[in-house]
Amino acid sequence: MTRTSLGLGLAAAALLGLAALPPPAAAAPPKGAPAPAKARTIAELATRYDSSSCIECHQETHDQWLRSAHARSIFGTGRTASTFKTAVVNGLLKWEHSGVKTQKDVRVEHLQGCTKCHLPQLAEASDAVAQEILKTIDTWQAAAEEGDDDATEKAAASLKSLNINCLVCHNRNAIIHKWTDGAPQPKTVYGGSSEGEHPDPKFPHVAKSPVMGESIFCGQCHGLGPNFELHNPTQCATAYGSYLFAYVPDGGDKTCQQCHMRESGLGHDMQSFRSEVMAKKALDMHVEARAYVWRDNQTFRPVATVKVELRNNAGHGIPDG
Ligand code: HEC
Ligand code: HEC
Ligand code: HEC
Ligand code: HEC
Ligand code: HEC
Repeated sequence: MTRTSLGLGLAAAALLGLAALPPPAAAAPPKGAPAPAKARTIAELATRYDSSSCIECHQETHDQWLRSAHARSIFGTGRTASTFKTAVVNGLLKWEHSGVKTQKDVRVEHLQGCTKCHLPQLAEASDAVAQEILKTIDTWQAAAEEGDDDATEKAAASLKSLNINCLVCHNRNAIIHKWTDGAPQPKTVYGGSSEGEHPDPKFPHVAKSPVMGESIFCGQCHGLGPNFELHNPTQCATAYGSYLFAYVPDGGDKTCQQCHMRESGLGHDMQSFRSEVMAKKALDMHVEARAYVWRDNQTFRPVATVKVELRNNAGHGIPDG
């Protein structure tokens, strides 16, 4: 701490009548770095969130994550990328007041109806990146149609390089209430418990996220229900709304992390019914059937009574999205 700021600190403490307390510790948390210039290309945005340094020490976590939908959050199974395109063609281009007359007019702001959840870091990219994403989807679709495997793979890889990775969850989105808890700090990974040093030279600090172990952490992107903050609201996922307004009031007491990461044993491979473990947990189904013949005057009709009981064991409505 410099002499001047120490002087100010003491003066302020004296004003508050706290002069007897020691001056603030020298290790006051660093202020957030000034916002860097917006990324201009897909490659630049991907590099900014490069989490390859984590693999060396967290190999198993990385392998689990790589199997999850988070590792390809704008490509998805291919369906997500295609639907982004449909949202432009059947939405933005058709809506009279969207300001989009041709695909060239699409800006980051227009894609946020999807990317606020599918790629929140797009907020730190320039409109050129929004354009590059759409052009890459075009290239991918055209190459797939022509059967050009190399070009298809190359375009898909570029789209998959943008995703929800270690740094999005363990830094960018690890703090929700930034006026209360402060903005996430650079060179820091946020987890559930430890504070202090972390052995990655690129991320030498570890800090405690107030939300990492809570359902609200997942709720940031998993949809509360209709939300209205954008110029043209869209809705996709609603699992968090359903969790809060149906599962919890009905006595449900587990968090998303408990069911999806711990009890499932899947860790960072957060999954839906596509995983056998989750599919088995999803429903209890009980069926009773009785067949008999009903005599209607002279006509004999075969009849069956079937009683089906379904119980949803997930922490929200299914299916979602
Ligand atoms: C040189 C080895 C090394 C590298 C590289 C590394 N870590 Fe760690 N990390 C550790 C060790 C050791 C721990 C403490 C033991 C544990 O929880 O696994 C740890 C703990 C953590 C924790 C848990 C903190 C808590 O309190 O819950 C998180 C989250 C984490 N690392 C994320 C990352 C991310 C993200 C990266 C890449 C940006 C990364 N680590 C790179 C070694 C490393
Ligand atoms: C509120 C956050 C949110 C918004 C906004 C959002 N999505 Fe989603 N989307 C999700 C989540 C989370 C899933 C995971 C599926 C689920 O909930 O079942 C998903 C799933 C999907 C899927 C299904 C993926 C698959 O292969 O099964 C598609 C396609 C999709 N989104 C496209 C879009 C498009 C296009 C937009 C914009 C028009 C959009 N989403 C807006 C959060 C969102
Ligand atoms: C979709 C968000 C998300 C992504 C992506 C993600 N994590 Fe995590 N991670 C979490 C959450 C949530 C927890 C806390 C789990 C709990 O409460 O049991 C966690 C816990 C951890 C821990 C603490 C030990 C453990 O496994 O519970 C480490 C270490 C870690 N993550 C490393 C990583 C690394 C490395 C990556 C990238 C390969 C990564 N995480 C990607 C959400 C994420
Ligand atoms: C930064 C936003 C974000 C956060 C945080 C996040 N997710 Fe997701 N998640 C998504 C998106 C977007 C998808 C869908 C990607 C796609 O396939 O298009 C998804 C997919 C999933 C899926 C697979 C859905 C399917 O249909 O296969 C599960 C399960 C899931 N997330 C659970 C979680 C849990 C549990 C947490 C918290 C520990 C969490 N997510 C945190 C954005 C997020
Ligand atoms: C009580 C356990 C439990 C809790 C709590 C829970 N889930 Fe699930 N979830 C499941 C099971 C089981 C499935 C598999 C059923 C399925 O995919 O249809 C599932 C499926 C999903 C899916 C895929 C939905 C689909 O269309 O198939 C998403 C996304 C998801 N969960 C996210 C979350 C999020 C986010 C939270 C917290 C807000 C959460 N889950 C809380 C058990 C739980």
